[in-house]
Amino acid sequence: MRIGILTGGGDSPAVNAAIRAVVKKSEKDGIEVLGFLNGWAGLIEGKTMPLGDDNVSGILPKGGTILGTSRTNPFKLDKVDEVKKNIAAFGIDALITIGGDATNGVMRRLNELDEPVRGVGIPQTIDNDIPGSDYSIGFDSAVAIATDACDKLHSTAESHHRVMILEVMGRDAGHIAVEAGVAGGADIILIPEKQFELDWVCDRVNERQSRGKNFSIIVVAEGARPVGHDQVVRTEKVDQFGHVLLGGSGEYLMAEVEKCTGVESRVTILGHIQRGGTPTSHDRLMATRFGVAAVELIKAQKWGRLVALKGDKVTSVPLAEGLDGTKEVSEELYETAMLFY
Ligand code: F6P
Repeated sequence: MRIGILTGGGDSPAVNAAIRAVVKKSEKDGIEVLGFLNGWAGLIEGKTMPLGDDNVSGILPKGGTILGTSRTNPFKLDKVDEVKKNIAAFGIDALITIGGDATNGVMRRLNELDEPVRGVGIPQTIDNDIPGSDYSIGFDSAVAIATDACDKLHSTAESHHRVMILEVMGRDAGHIAVEAGVAGGADIILIPEKQFELDWVCDRVNERQSRGKNFSIIVVAEGARPVGHDQVVRTEKVDQFGHVLLGGSGEYLMAEVEKCTGVESRVTILGHIQRGGTPTSHDRLMATRFGVAAVELIKAQKWGRLVALKGDKVTSVPLAEGLDGTKEVSEELYETAMLFY
């Protein structure tokens, strides 16, 4: 048996740990693995990389993906036939896709064709917004990076008596913002799930000032917005999956908060720093468990499924169900966060 594997969409720490797990588990079970380069582009163009023990040795702690990635969508490019041809040409019996809703969504659509492409998906995105799984690879590392940024901003905010705004990623979900904000002791956390009133933010900063707390830390998700305001986008262009490039909520907030409070404000846009570097031990562990589970699904011929964490158990759900919508921050977590500001 021969498995094809690809990594698509935004990378994250511990993608390599998942590739390594797939390769090592497969080798144990007598299954060959062939990597396709740069997401779905590799399957369209027939660009591959052999994957054996030698290729994955030493990649466990390395950020990024040794296979490369892209936001290529074969359906949008009308290249599904090329994908199918290459699957046949390279003798692939089943695919494993590692990525978010877009990458795994292509797997889902291919699996639903009259002549289906067989395969399974692994949830991986720092946004942790895939509804079918309690966890997506990369999230813990991104939260650790954003928490560290909060800690660092605290000391300079305090010295300069400033409002320091930290803009974090997450697209339409506020998981990184709320978890890093709570862990990093932010004074205000703004997420896409809850539109906010600017006056409320300013009142909160002013109220701290009146208590002698002459600095504030605000964590704002890139997708957060005030009531009656659109999400801030960097460009009108969309990627091949229709995603806009968010970013700028922090700049917007800095100007408005400085205006309404008179407190000097600065913004830090954490950006792709959140997607790079060494994965946390939790991410390495989850990536390893997910990689092994994906190979098990293939051996059991359970096609069209998404590996998923439910509670503390690794299981799987149908791709269609697992990718339907966006997983939002829970009310319980949001209310806990609100208790602290
Ligand atoms: O989906 C992961 C993510 O990092 C989002 O949080 C962010 O909006 C987007 O990717 C950024 O995309 P790009 O790497 O194309 O700038």
